[in-house]
Amino acid sequence: MFAPFIFLVFLVGVIANTVRQALSSPLNRIPGPWYARFTSLVLKYNEFIAKRTRYIHALHKTYGPAVRIAPNEVAFASTAAVKEIYCSGGSGYDKTEFYDLFKVYERRTMFTTLNKDDHAKRKRIIADRYANTNIVRKPSLDGIAERAGSFVKRCFDSVSVSGSLDLYVCLHSYAFDCVTHHLFHPYGTDSLQNKQDEDMMREVTFDDSLQNRLVRYWNPTLHRVFGKILYSFAKPRETPMADDFVLHTSSKTDAAAFTLLDRLRGNPQLEELDVAAECLDHMVAGIDTTGDALCFLMWELSQPSSLHCQQTLREELHGNPGVGFDRLPYLDAVVMEGLRCFPAIPMSLPRYVPPGGRTIDGYILPEGTIVSCQAYSVGRIEQTVFPDPDTFRPDRWLDEKGDADRRRLLFAFSNGGRGCVGKHLALAEMKMLLQAVYSKFSTLPDETMTPESMEMSDQLVSSRPLGQRCLLRFIPTTSEVMA
Ligand code: HEM
Repeated sequence: MFAPFIFLVFLVGVIANTVRQALSSPLNRIPGPWYARFTSLVLKYNEFIAKRTRYIHALHKTYGPAVRIAPNEVAFASTAAVKEIYCSGGSGYDKTEFYDLFKVYERRTMFTTLNKDDHAKRKRIIADRYANTNIVRKPSLDGIAERAGSFVKRCFDSVSVSGSLDLYVCLHSYAFDCVTHHLFHPYGTDSLQNKQDEDMMREVTFDDSLQNRLVRYWNPTLHRVFGKILYSFAKPRETPMADDFVLHTSSKTDAAAFTLLDRLRGNPQLEELDVAAECLDHMVAGIDTTGDALCFLMWELSQPSSLHCQQTLREELHGNPGVGFDRLPYLDAVVMEGLRCFPAIPMSLPRYVPPGGRTIDGYILPEGTIVSCQAYSVGRIEQTVFPDPDTFRPDRWLDEKGDADRRRLLFAFSNGGRGCVGKHLALAEMKMLLQAVYSKFSTLPDETMTPESMEMSDQLVSSRPLGQRCLLRFIPTTSEVMA
């Protein structure tokens, strides 16, 4: 008889406490929707339906570059905030437990270490394998060139066989083959030509575990108790082929000198499973990011509104045969603009405000507040740096005036010591592929494609086209025929 009464008292107590905390929070000065003071439910709902990035961007458009998105969470989109959160003290603030979701084989990797010191130790071992000097070495670049050649062959095949090519699949295969070359050569994959390897790429890329993993992050107990029921409508992440491939390959002792595996195996501090976990992490990090960034970019280049950009790119490539991918200014501008408009990781990269609290953009933030910037907004909000921000305009990157400001606000690879270690590899892959393709073809969307299927669908940190399909037609611009 007393039970309902006790429950009511408990409920009133909880509500009173929430309201008291909301009204006395030091974050109240920060603009944002009224409900963000009391609850993170609206934010979570948008994460759950794969629209977190656009939801936060809409809030930035309404409230400005600093916006409170939940009782203990603030999103920023200014140069000063990027510098403070991600670069102060070298690698910025510590990561939150959100990154626990990315642990592999139950180990922490460079990406999933939460604090600076652990991260610095691991990075010291790994960094030189991704330095530009290592990427532009012949054995490394030859591997990328060979895979770009296989991609071009698939384009030629599509002309004579089906009329169009599914870029989504082929670009993920290309990214997969390039990254495994860099990790494991001569044990890299060949998914552009080998069906079994393509199946492994599909297992990773067509993963649909967003909702399951979000529930695990929000409420681990609920996830444990209702795991089986949850499974029937929200699958956990399962990648057995990729797991086995990496476990098997990372035990090899004769990988080429430029590979990550060679470096990791030579380090006595790392156990076998640490080596495998680090390799799997980099493999996964290198597939969807480069694959999706290229996919969105080539889709954009194929739209009627961007055909003039495609034409300018082709003229640059035809006018400079044999010139290296890193010495072509318009190609660079196309890639920079692609990364600004369609960053493969467009979403918030959450960090904790360190002990003692900090001031960001003039707002005082107590320690433990979750703060973040998202590349999608950082590349759009500052219209003096990026006028007409929603328009794809590569030539803005050719203007010397404002160049430093633009590059400071390009947040696609994040910034500071925890920024993307694979940046130079990714840029080489992207530029070499575009150079190989647009020297030989013009591209148009297949008639069956709709803009909706290319809408951005957020995953845990990365974003992919909603339909996971991108059919383009490749029209040869030279009389060359593949043997
Ligand atoms: C266009 C392609 C790519 C984009 C846009 C991209 C973007 C990013 C971003 C934004 C981060 C920071 C994530 C965070 O703080 O939560 C990151 C980290 C990382 N990326 Fe990439 N990435 C790309 C390609 C690659 C490739 C090809 C590799 C190859 C191995 C790679 C490996 C990594 C690793 C290992 C980290 C963790 C770095 C650390 O914590 O020190 N990425 N990437």
